[in-house]
Amino acid sequence: MLEQQPLNILAIVGSLRKDSFNRQLAEAARDALGDRAKLHFLSYADVPLFNQDIEYPAPEAVSRARAAVREADGLWFFTPEYNHSFPGVLKNLIDWLSRPASETERQVLYGKPAALAGISGGMSGTLVAQDQLAMLLSYLNLRLMNVPRVAVPNARTLADAQGRLTLPDKNRAFLQKEADALIAFLRP
Ligand code: FNR
Repeated sequence: MLEQQPLNILAIVGSLRKDSFNRQLAEAARDALGDRAKLHFLSYADVPLFNQDIEYPAPEAVSRARAAVREADGLWFFTPEYNHSFPGVLKNLIDWLSRPASETERQVLYGKPAALAGISGGMSGTLVAQDQLAMLLSYLNLRLMNVPRVAVPNARTLADAQGRLTLPDKNRAFLQKEADALIAFLRP
Protein backbone atom coordinates (compact mmCIF):
# COMPACT_ATOMS: atom_id res chain seq x y z
CA MET A 1 0.00 0.00 0.00
CA LEU A 2 1.21 3.51 -0.81
CA GLU A 3 2.21 5.54 2.23
CA GLN A 4 0.11 8.69 2.63
CA GLN A 5 1.90 12.01 2.57
CA PRO A 6 1.35 14.10 5.71
CA LEU A 7 -1.35 16.73 5.26
CA ASN A 8 -0.35 20.38 5.16
CA ILE A 9 -2.34 22.29 7.79
CA LEU A 10 -1.90 26.02 8.28
CA ALA A 11 -2.28 27.35 11.84
CA ILE A 12 -3.66 30.88 11.90
CA VAL A 13 -3.18 32.31 15.38
CA GLY A 14 -5.29 35.39 16.09
CA SER A 15 -2.72 36.92 18.42
CA LEU A 16 0.58 38.61 17.58
CA ARG A 17 1.74 38.44 21.19
CA LYS A 18 5.16 36.80 21.60
CA ASP A 19 4.05 34.49 24.43
CA SER A 20 0.52 34.06 23.09
CA PHE A 21 -1.46 31.31 24.82
CA ASN A 22 -3.16 30.63 21.50
CA ARG A 23 0.20 30.08 19.88
CA GLN A 24 1.02 27.64 22.69
CA LEU A 25 -2.32 25.90 22.18
CA ALA A 26 -1.46 25.56 18.49
CA GLU A 27 1.90 24.03 19.44
CA ALA A 28 0.05 21.46 21.56
CA ALA A 29 -2.25 20.82 18.58
CA ARG A 30 0.82 20.14 16.44
CA ASP A 31 1.79 17.38 18.88
CA ALA A 32 -1.77 16.00 18.76
CA LEU A 33 -1.64 15.81 14.95
CA GLY A 34 1.60 13.82 15.15
CA ASP A 35 3.05 12.63 11.87
CA ARG A 36 -0.33 12.65 10.09
CA ALA A 37 0.07 16.33 9.27
CA LYS A 38 2.60 19.12 9.20
CA LEU A 39 1.29 22.17 11.06
CA HIS A 40 2.79 25.36 9.65
CA PHE A 41 2.29 28.71 11.34
CA LEU A 42 1.14 31.63 9.25
CA SER A 43 3.29 34.64 9.98
CA TYR A 44 1.29 37.76 9.18
CA ALA A 45 2.40 40.49 11.62
CA ASP A 46 3.58 42.51 8.62
CA VAL A 47 0.24 42.48 6.79
CA PRO A 48 -0.80 46.16 6.62
CA LEU A 49 -4.15 47.53 7.67
CA PHE A 50 -6.55 46.91 4.83
CA ASN A 51 -7.02 49.92 2.60
CA GLN A 52 -8.48 49.71 -0.88
CA ASP A 53 -5.98 52.34 -2.02
CA ILE A 54 -3.15 49.79 -1.61
CA GLU A 55 -5.07 46.68 -2.66
CA TYR A 56 -3.45 46.30 -6.12
CA PRO A 57 -0.76 45.25 -6.57
CA ALA A 58 -1.05 43.29 -3.34
CA PRO A 59 1.58 44.05 -0.70
CA GLU A 60 4.24 41.34 -0.50
CA ALA A 61 3.06 40.18 2.97
CA VAL A 62 -0.46 39.67 1.62
CA SER A 63 0.75 37.67 -1.39
CA ARG A 64 2.74 35.44 0.96
CA ALA A 65 -0.27 34.88 3.21
CA ARG A 66 -2.47 34.08 0.20
CA ALA A 67 0.10 31.57 -1.10
CA ALA A 68 0.31 29.84 2.28
CA VAL A 69 -3.48 29.50 2.41
CA ARG A 70 -3.66 28.28 -1.20
CA GLU A 71 -1.06 25.57 -0.54
CA ALA A 72 -2.68 24.33 2.68
CA ASP A 73 -4.96 21.28 2.75
CA GLY A 74 -6.78 22.91 5.64
CA LEU A 75 -6.68 25.77 8.12
CA TRP A 76 -6.81 25.61 11.89
CA PHE A 77 -7.71 28.89 13.57
CA PHE A 78 -6.58 29.50 17.15
CA THR A 79 -8.26 32.64 18.30
CA PRO A 80 -8.20 34.69 21.49
CA GLU A 81 -11.36 36.46 22.57
CA TYR A 82 -11.33 40.25 22.69
CA ASN A 83 -14.57 41.77 23.94
CA HIS A 84 -16.58 38.70 22.94
CA SER A 85 -15.21 38.71 19.43
CA PHE A 86 -12.02 37.68 17.66
CA PRO A 87 -9.17 40.22 17.47
CA GLY A 88 -8.99 42.95 14.87
CA VAL A 89 -5.67 41.64 13.51
CA LEU A 90 -7.44 38.46 12.49
CA LYS A 91 -10.35 40.33 10.90
CA ASN A 92 -7.84 42.47 9.01
CA LEU A 93 -6.04 39.37 7.70
CA ILE A 94 -9.33 37.73 6.68
CA ASP A 95 -10.47 40.91 4.92
CA TRP A 96 -7.30 40.79 2.82
CA LEU A 97 -7.68 37.06 2.12
CA SER A 98 -11.33 37.52 1.18
CA ARG A 99 -10.38 39.64 -1.82
CA PRO A 100 -9.28 37.96 -5.07
CA ALA A 101 -5.68 38.62 -6.05
CA SER A 102 -6.86 39.50 -9.58
CA GLU A 103 -10.01 39.64 -11.69
CA THR A 104 -9.52 36.09 -12.92
CA GLU A 105 -8.85 34.46 -9.56
CA ARG A 106 -11.20 33.32 -6.84
CA GLN A 107 -10.46 34.40 -3.26
CA VAL A 108 -8.21 31.82 -1.58
CA LEU A 109 -10.52 31.01 1.31
CA TYR A 110 -13.29 29.70 -0.95
CA GLY A 111 -14.08 26.06 -0.09
CA LYS A 112 -11.04 25.78 2.19
CA PRO A 113 -11.57 23.29 5.05
CA ALA A 114 -11.13 24.92 8.47
CA ALA A 115 -11.31 24.14 12.18
CA LEU A 116 -11.57 26.41 15.21
CA ALA A 117 -10.05 26.46 18.67
CA GLY A 118 -9.05 29.04 21.23
CA ILE A 119 -7.96 29.93 24.73
CA SER A 120 -8.84 33.10 26.60
CA GLY A 121 -8.48 34.84 29.91
CA GLY A 122 -12.15 34.82 30.84
CA MET A 123 -14.75 32.16 31.53
CA SER A 124 -16.09 31.94 27.99
CA GLY A 125 -12.86 30.32 26.81
CA THR A 126 -13.35 31.99 23.37
CA LEU A 127 -16.68 30.30 22.64
CA VAL A 128 -18.31 33.62 21.80
CA ALA A 129 -15.37 34.70 19.63
CA GLN A 130 -15.40 31.33 17.88
CA ASP A 131 -19.08 31.72 17.05
CA GLN A 132 -18.39 35.13 15.57
CA LEU A 133 -15.49 33.74 13.57
CA ALA A 134 -17.63 30.81 12.39
CA MET A 135 -20.21 33.26 11.08
CA LEU A 136 -17.58 35.15 9.09
CA LEU A 137 -15.93 32.00 7.73
CA SER A 138 -19.26 30.56 6.71
CA TYR A 139 -20.10 33.79 4.86
CA LEU A 140 -16.81 33.40 2.98
CA ASN A 141 -17.74 29.83 1.99
CA LEU A 142 -15.03 27.99 3.83
CA ARG A 143 -15.84 24.35 4.56
CA LEU A 144 -16.03 24.66 8.32
CA MET A 145 -15.71 21.74 10.72
CA ASN A 146 -18.20 23.09 13.21
CA VAL A 147 -17.59 20.49 15.90
CA PRO A 148 -15.54 19.55 17.78
CA ARG A 149 -14.04 22.86 18.87
CA VAL A 150 -11.61 23.29 21.74
CA ALA A 151 -12.27 26.25 24.06
CA VAL A 152 -10.03 26.77 27.09
CA PRO A 153 -11.08 29.33 29.76
CA ASN A 154 -9.08 31.07 32.50
CA ALA A 155 -5.75 30.92 30.68
CA ARG A 156 -3.72 32.69 33.38
CA THR A 157 -4.56 30.02 35.96
CA LEU A 158 -2.92 27.43 33.69
CA ALA A 159 0.33 29.35 33.18
CA ASP A 160 3.47 29.73 35.25
CA ALA A 161 5.09 33.08 36.15
CA GLN A 162 6.85 33.13 32.76
CA GLY A 163 3.57 32.66 30.91
CA ARG A 164 4.28 29.02 29.95
CA LEU A 165 1.03 27.14 29.59
CA THR A 166 0.43 23.66 30.98
CA LEU A 167 -2.75 22.25 29.52
CA PRO A 168 -4.72 20.05 31.90
CA ASP A 169 -5.28 16.46 30.72
CA LYS A 170 -8.94 17.08 29.95
CA ASN A 171 -8.07 19.97 27.59
CA ARG A 172 -5.35 17.87 26.01
CA ALA A 173 -7.87 15.07 25.44
CA PHE A 174 -10.29 17.49 23.75
CA LEU A 175 -7.47 18.80 21.59
CA GLN A 176 -6.60 15.23 20.58
CA LYS A 177 -10.24 14.64 19.63
CA GLU A 178 -10.30 17.76 17.50
CA ALA A 179 -7.00 16.85 15.82
CA ASP A 180 -8.34 13.36 15.01
CA ALA A 181 -11.61 14.84 13.73
CA LEU A 182 -9.76 17.33 11.54
CA ILE A 183 -7.66 14.58 9.96
CA ALA A 184 -10.86 12.62 9.22
CA PHE A 185 -12.50 15.81 7.89
CA LEU A 186 -9.59 16.40 5.52
CA ARG A 187 -9.30 12.74 4.52
CA PRO A 188 -12.82 11.35 4.52
C1 FNR B 1 -9.37 40.32 26.49
N1 FNR B 1 -9.57 39.08 27.13
C2 FNR B 1 -10.84 38.48 27.10
N2 FNR B 1 -11.03 37.19 27.55
C3 FNR B 1 -12.26 36.60 27.44
O1 FNR B 1 -12.40 35.43 27.81
N3 FNR B 1 -13.32 37.28 26.93
C4 FNR B 1 -13.21 38.57 26.47
O2 FNR B 1 -14.18 39.14 25.99
C5 FNR B 1 -11.93 39.21 26.57
N4 FNR B 1 -11.76 40.50 26.13
C6 FNR B 1 -10.48 41.03 26.00
C7 FNR B 1 -10.30 42.25 25.34
C8 FNR B 1 -9.01 42.72 25.12
C9 FNR B 1 -8.83 44.01 24.35
C10 FNR B 1 -7.89 42.01 25.60
C11 FNR B 1 -6.48 42.51 25.35
C12 FNR B 1 -8.07 40.84 26.29
C13 FNR B 1 -8.42 38.32 27.66
C14 FNR B 1 -7.72 37.54 26.53
O3 FNR B 1 -8.50 36.43 26.17
C15 FNR B 1 -6.35 37.08 27.01
O4 FNR B 1 -5.51 38.23 27.17
C16 FNR B 1 -5.69 36.05 26.08
O5 FNR B 1 -4.59 35.53 26.75
C17 FNR B 1 -5.26 36.65 24.75
O6 FNR B 1 -4.77 35.64 23.91
P1 FNR B 1 -3.19 35.38 23.68
O7 FNR B 1 -2.57 36.67 23.22
O8 FNR B 1 -2.61 34.90 24.97
O9 FNR B 1 -3.15 34.31 22.62
